[in-house]
Amino acid sequence: MSLSIVVLAAGQGKRMYSDVPKVLHALAGKPLLEHVCRVAARLSAERIYVVHGHGGERVREALRHLDVTWIEQSRQLGTGHAVAQALPSIDSRNGVLILYGDVPLITSETLQRLKDAFAEGGIGLLTVDLDDPGGYGRIVRDHSGAVVRIVEHKDTTPEERAIREVNTGMMAIPAAPLLRWIERLDDRNAQREYYLTDIIGMAVREGIPIKTVAADSVYEVMGINDREQLADLERHYQHLQAQHLMRSGVTLRDPARFDLRGEIEFGRDVVIDVNVILEGRVKLGDRVHIGPNSYLRDAELADDVAVLPNCVLEECAIGKGARIGPFSRIRPETRLADHVHVGNFVEIKKSTVAAGSKINHLSYVGDAEVGRDVNVGAGTITCNYDGANKHKTVIGDGVFIGSDTLLVAPVRVGDGATIGAGTTLTQDAPPGALTLGRARQTTVESWTRPQKKKTGEEK
Ligand code: UD1
Ligand code: CA
Repeated sequence: MSLSIVVLAAGQGKRMYSDVPKVLHALAGKPLLEHVCRVAARLSAERIYVVHGHGGERVREALRHLDVTWIEQSRQLGTGHAVAQALPSIDSRNGVLILYGDVPLITSETLQRLKDAFAEGGIGLLTVDLDDPGGYGRIVRDHSGAVVRIVEHKDTTPEERAIREVNTGMMAIPAAPLLRWIERLDDRNAQREYYLTDIIGMAVREGIPIKTVAADSVYEVMGINDREQLADLERHYQHLQAQHLMRSGVTLRDPARFDLRGEIEFGRDVVIDVNVILEGRVKLGDRVHIGPNSYLRDAELADDVAVLPNCVLEECAIGKGARIGPFSRIRPETRLADHVHVGNFVEIKKSTVAAGSKINHLSYVGDAEVGRDVNVGAGTITCNYDGANKHKTVIGDGVFIGSDTLLVAPVRVGDGATIGAGTTLTQDAPPGALTLGRARQTTVESWTRPQKKKTGEEK
């Protein structure tokens, strides 16, 4: 039987107190709904439908890279009503798997178990036992232990309220009877909503078995309704990621102070110190060390790179054995070759620096091509912007640039050239020669230092 997945995501998320639709709030850098859709995509379903409502335009726009079919639910009249919006698009011979857009940590393994239970015939229902089941729909079973129905929290009797097994909301149902049951739903309940959960009682009355599957962990089925829950799940997710990294050979000095918001590839014996945030796609070669308090986004670091404390690296590639930091900022479109050294208070933007070159202190290098074995002195600045356009600076191999040099682009420095400290370079410097441009130093022999005037009494 083919599977259609329906992700319910029309809820407003009132308790987020946000202008952003709830399902677009980020967990580990990705919208909640994207987490769910990515897991759904692993279940080889025929199609994934996402039922959206509140902020639908924004949701579709933000997630347009996902291969899903969007279905609008203009008024949120309940989970049964939400599923009803998707049913006309679904082949009646299919199975329908219901997921929630605000339950981001569900795993494909658990959903596979739910699919398997469903495949045996009847309805698959994912449940979990909670110490505090408040707010959830309770699973009511008969004396033989068979599921009889689900009762929503607000409709429970005191005895039902004590039931600790709850409905996670995730279930797999054959489409044909689902359509029939959904047509019979009404909103005669405490919340005046069309409850999807009412179909369980209907199925049981028709003799259709309900196969429950228990979730492995509470986190997998936890929905997000407010920012505290969002933070809880974020911490849990980060913990799982850190655990996975450590189990695969990465040293994390403190797994509780490490955040991965994206994907990481890593070699052997990588060491990551505390308060490091990795975002986007990060690739770390063998023996890469990342010092404390660093932020890396979309960065590729080759073997033996050392990032000293307090660095920011974005959209860049760093060659083998390079040393960055402390306090360096490597901006997008920068490529540093092997064994380059970049030191404190150095900013590099959209530049390439060839092997062995050093830019160790207080410099800005932007729109530049720097050759091999170049020494860039402290306080060197590429003046790449004339107020309207950006211009290039090209520095040849083996160049020595004295401290406090301004390179007014466009400008070229030939191979092996030396630029005297304090130079404002406005024309190309020829290879192999010393070029300097600064006021000539003079000493005024006749000059005497002014003396303080004598005060009254001493006169
Ligand atoms: C629902 C279940 C409850 C279960 C709980 C688990 C029903 C009637 N109740 O309750 O048994 O224990 O989830 O979290 O199904 N949604 C829509 N359109 C709507 C209403 C809801 O898309 O008109 C979406 C929401 O965005 C959310 C999901 O459906 O992702 C669940 O809705 P919510 O209002 O949170 O249901 P609960 O009352 O928590
Ligand atoms: Ca909920």
